[in-house]
Amino acid sequence: MEHNVYLPRIGEIIEIKDEVLGARPIKTFRVKLIDGPNFSFRCGQCAMLSVFGQGESMISISSSPLVTDYLQFSILKMGRVTSALHEMEPGSLIGVRGPYGNGFPIDDWKGKNLIFIGGGIGLAPIWSVLQTAILRKAEYGDLLLIYGARTSKDIVFRNELEQLKAQIPVYLSIDVAEPGWREFVGFVPQNVLDKKPSPENAIAITCGPPIMIKFVIKALKELGFEDNQIYTTVENKMKCGIGKCGRCNIGHHYVCKDGPVYSWAELKLLPQEY
Ligand SMILES: Cc1cc2nc3c(=O)[nH]c(=O)nc-3n(C[C@H](O)[C@H](O)[C@H](O)COP(=O)(O)OP(=O)(O)OC[C@H]3O[C@@H](n4cnc5c(N)ncnc54)[C@H](O)[C@@H]3O)c2cc1C
Ligand code: FES
Repeated sequence: MEHNVYLPRIGEIIEIKDEVLGARPIKTFRVKLIDGPNFSFRCGQCAMLSVFGQGESMISISSSPLVTDYLQFSILKMGRVTSALHEMEPGSLIGVRGPYGNGFPIDDWKGKNLIFIGGGIGLAPIWSVLQTAILRKAEYGDLLLIYGARTSKDIVFRNELEQLKAQIPVYLSIDVAEPGWREFVGFVPQNVLDKKPSPENAIAITCGPPIMIKFVIKALKELGFEDNQIYTTVENKMKCGIGKCGRCNIGHHYVCKDGPVYSWAELKLLPQEY
């Protein structure tokens, strides 16, 4: 019988962690495929997660491909599917299609300094690359993370970030001052200009809200980064995830297949439909 590409694998949620509470909650889910071995994937790839009877959503895989026990997804509650995911408990079953997309070309970056710049839930796709680079530290140059959220309560991977500080420089920011906050106050692009990462032998990887990405790229250009030293992801709305429906395209590009990862050198040549 012909394989149906829309048929999901079955995943069991084995762990759920509250990252952010309040009006824009974020939870991290660890999922184990129970109908066979977990699939292999590249950093920056995504999977279509389905809640039976509700629908599907494209979500970045936030764990490293070097971790094979589970797939990790960090999910902001937005609407129908993500709300249903937030209602689930460990032991619940979901559908998983993927992996989809091109992923970050991390093998091309060996020997280079990697500068990670994230905002809000945009740390999720970066986290996969960052964890991989940490696990393979000898293969890369210096690593640096600049990450910001609206308030201190909106910071994801809070404990992991504190532990990361023992290994690499981590510069956090929040948008508006709060009592007790001792790190940077302001938007992520301002923190980039404040910390002035050097473009020498470096690659900058940035994910976050489109407005943040726009101004982070502007800041990086001011610091002397070339277009092909800057990588980002495009999160256009998606339906099929496999280049069939035309929902996600930018010009002739299907973001689900040709993206979601682009260098700024590639992205700036495409129509501004993202
Ligand atoms: C490549 C890719 C990777 C993604 N990775 C993550 C991730 O790691 N974590 C995460 O939380 N989310 C991620 N998203 C966004 C996620 O797919 C959407 O938030 C989700 O599909 C919304 O589904 P829903 O049924 O809950 O909301 P819906 O009921 O479909 O919509 C609720 C609201 O969300 C808006 N919305 C839906 N999809 C998007 C989108 N792609 N961009 C902007 N607004 C949208 C709708 O316009 C509507 O206002 C990613 C999206 C893409 C395309
Ligand atoms: S989501 Fe269908 S073509 Fe990309």
